[in-house]
Amino acid sequence: MQRGHVGQRHCPRGGSGPTWAVELRRERQSVASRNTERRVRRPRRRGNRDEGIADTKVQCPRPTRGATSPASGAAPAWRIEMLPTPITTPPVGRALITGASGGMGAVYADRLARRGFDLILVARNSARLEAVAARVADATGRQVETLTSDLRRADHVDDIEDRLRTDERIAMLVNNAGVGSATPLLQADIGTMRGMIALNVEALTRLTYAAAPGFVARGGGTIINMASIAAIGPEILNGVYAGTKAFVVALTQSLHHELASRGVRVQAVLPGAVATDFWDVSGAPLASLPAGIVMSTEDAVDAALAGFDQGELITLPSLPDPADWQAYEDARRALFPNLSRSEPAARFGVGRAPAAAT
Ligand SMILES: NC(=O)c1ccc[n+]([C@@H]2O[C@H](COP(=O)([O-])OP(=O)(O)OC[C@H]3O[C@@H](n4cnc5c(N)ncnc54)[C@H](OP(=O)(O)O)[C@@H]3O)[C@@H](O)[C@H]2O)c1
Repeated sequence: MQRGHVGQRHCPRGGSGPTWAVELRRERQSVASRNTERRVRRPRRRGNRDEGIADTKVQCPRPTRGATSPASGAAPAWRIEMLPTPITTPPVGRALITGASGGMGAVYADRLARRGFDLILVARNSARLEAVAARVADATGRQVETLTSDLRRADHVDDIEDRLRTDERIAMLVNNAGVGSATPLLQADIGTMRGMIALNVEALTRLTYAAAPGFVARGGGTIINMASIAAIGPEILNGVYAGTKAFVVALTQSLHHELASRGVRVQAVLPGAVATDFWDVSGAPLASLPAGIVMSTEDAVDAALAGFDQGELITLPSLPDPADWQAYEDARRALFPNLSRSEPAARFGVGRAPAAAT
């Protein structure tokens, strides 16, 4: 079992990650069989506030700051970014976070625990998930449970759906798990594209549909959906990836439209490039990106949560002036009156409407 893979932060320009990043990818690939596990971690530094929580089934090594890289044995370039704030908030319910074994999901785990949430963390790599859980539980005193699950698989999603439907303490769903691709259409493998759609679209949709009715019935809840700037910039990366993220934005806008009045808060987050394993998995090494466009995981998540606190429906962590997004929205909405009419536009010269005089 590995030690200390929590909230990892690639050094955007350090070029230090490849060796252990390759090891992590190998390990991820080795989690082949279905292995949905449940781990409930009792906080070490706090009293038992929830008598219903079982003892930890598997003890993981306590992660340490600047833990040793599994691949090289040397100190990694990334480090755990700990906030100094002591935990004073009473528990506010559970947050279920997908893709919490690393990257932005691990930072969400840390930040939401500090905001008073007990956590249910979901991803495939159980060792990394356990390490994140141990570190967050130690640092915050919150209860952290892990569910090892491959969200591309419908039967694995069944289990998470059940949990969302039946656990009335869940007050927040963070649909963060996702993969990308930088491969152009003609070179892209359709099986890989289908897997991306299964994770980025289908699993996200199923979990949202599982969580929302309970939130409405209980008079409140939050759904945070991780999108991407690719949603509005389909020319940037692989088109299917962009399409999945455009779906996330549209679904989030619709959820807000339908559920805001029922007490459900939703947010779509559209980061630009963030320093995570995402890039290596996508086939575009992080080191190939200009440093000036790459944000740290901590900054991206902290900005996203600040946007949430400010009441934003759509949060672009990089965008300096929110009026720019509002102008984009206003332009979209300005189209509405003319998007559905009984006749084709006159400029086409068909139908009953006469062509415009030229
Ligand atoms: N990094 C960027 O530049 C960037 C920019 C915009 C948006 N995003 C979005 O941000 C989200 C988080 O990505 P990240 O940047 O933090 O990348 P990351 O470090 O690669 O994290 C992805 C997370 O998703 C999990 N995951 C991947 N496939 C999964 C599967 N089949 N089932 C369950 N969990 C799975 C991974 O864990 P396991 O491998 O353990 O399963 C990991 O915890 C994604 O939705 C991504 O599209 C990223």
